[in-house]
Amino acid sequence: MKLKNISWEEFLKLGVVEKSSYLVEDGRPFHVLTAQQFDRKQLDDLGSLATAIRFIAKTEAGMKFLRNLLSHKRAMLYFAQPSTRTFLSFCAACQILGVEIGEVRDTATSSEFKGETQEDSVRTFSSYFDLIIMRTKIGGLVEKMAWALSNSERPVPIINAGSGKDQHPTQALLDVYTLQRSFEKLGGIDGKRIIFVGDLARGRTVRSLAWLLTNYSDVKQCFVAPDQLQIGGDILELLRRAGVEFEVTGDLKSAIPRADAVYMTRVQDEWDVKDGESAGIDTSRYFFAREYLNLLGKHAVIMHPFPRRKEIPPDIDHDPRAVYWRQMRNGMWIRAALIAVVFQRDEDIRDYYNKN
Ligand code: NCD
Repeated sequence: MKLKNISWEEFLKLGVVEKSSYLVEDGRPFHVLTAQQFDRKQLDDLGSLATAIRFIAKTEAGMKFLRNLLSHKRAMLYFAQPSTRTFLSFCAACQILGVEIGEVRDTATSSEFKGETQEDSVRTFSSYFDLIIMRTKIGGLVEKMAWALSNSERPVPIINAGSGKDQHPTQALLDVYTLQRSFEKLGGIDGKRIIFVGDLARGRTVRSLAWLLTNYSDVKQCFVAPDQLQIGGDILELLRRAGVEFEVTGDLKSAIPRADAVYMTRVQDEWDVKDGESAGIDTSRYFFAREYLNLLGKHAVIMHPFPRRKEIPPDIDHDPRAVYWRQMRNGMWIRAALIAVVFQRDEDIRDYYNKN
């Protein structure tokens, strides 16, 4: 494990792409911290594994097979920030594979309330569990924990379930899986135009997905937001370096007709520095208006990581191009696939799938 052979200070100094090689063991992800650690082959493999799990889970015999794969493992879901879908889909993914779960969702009920550091909390979880799945509002904390665990007597893997405003790698994996499935008969993700809409400055799902898409050929990315909420310069710099074609605009209506996927997001006002900061920004031009359905290509899809507010009216849900409910369910399958890979049960799943 390379993370054992580098000091925290040295690791911290590395760029996000350089850090990736420290997170693998035997060629597979050990800690899952960033979108940057995944390459095209891994994305394709995870997608096909998720699909295999989805099919196997359709029968009782298949469910029994899956539930036996990791019934000797326990996972801790440590969610120090609100969550519905990520938490529940990780729970369901663990249950599918037979992994027993423990949870801390409210630090007011754990020893953190008594002044324990998050470092000590995570170290404690590693005494009782074989995997830690962690959501935190503190950017960079999950990396620190991964390093600390790798340098302890119980180096258990940690999966980032959303950290700060920065990264949400497993959401990006389920988003890519949704795009793979949506464009299955249309030549896949390569060559598509993805438009991101809403709070791109503080939306960690967008930041992680924008990077994952650099693994595909000729994908164009378009960032549609009011000036105050536009995508960070650091992401644009990563895209520039990756040779990705992108556009930054404030005009949603004219972006819609050329889109293959429209990725909507809500205003992330929990990050406001001043009270009412977001409320002062007019975001209504960044809502998906009903009439946009007529402008949107027949093959295109509308996505959203959820929770949604007013940016997608619920009556659009009936349109076959609105795939966000399927996207949500894909989260369960891709997270199950990821956990199976981390614990090296992917080959067993593929064997069963090919035989049945
Ligand atoms: C996102 C998150 O937590 O960053 N939610 C999710 O995981 N599906 C997006 C959001 O909260 O807007």
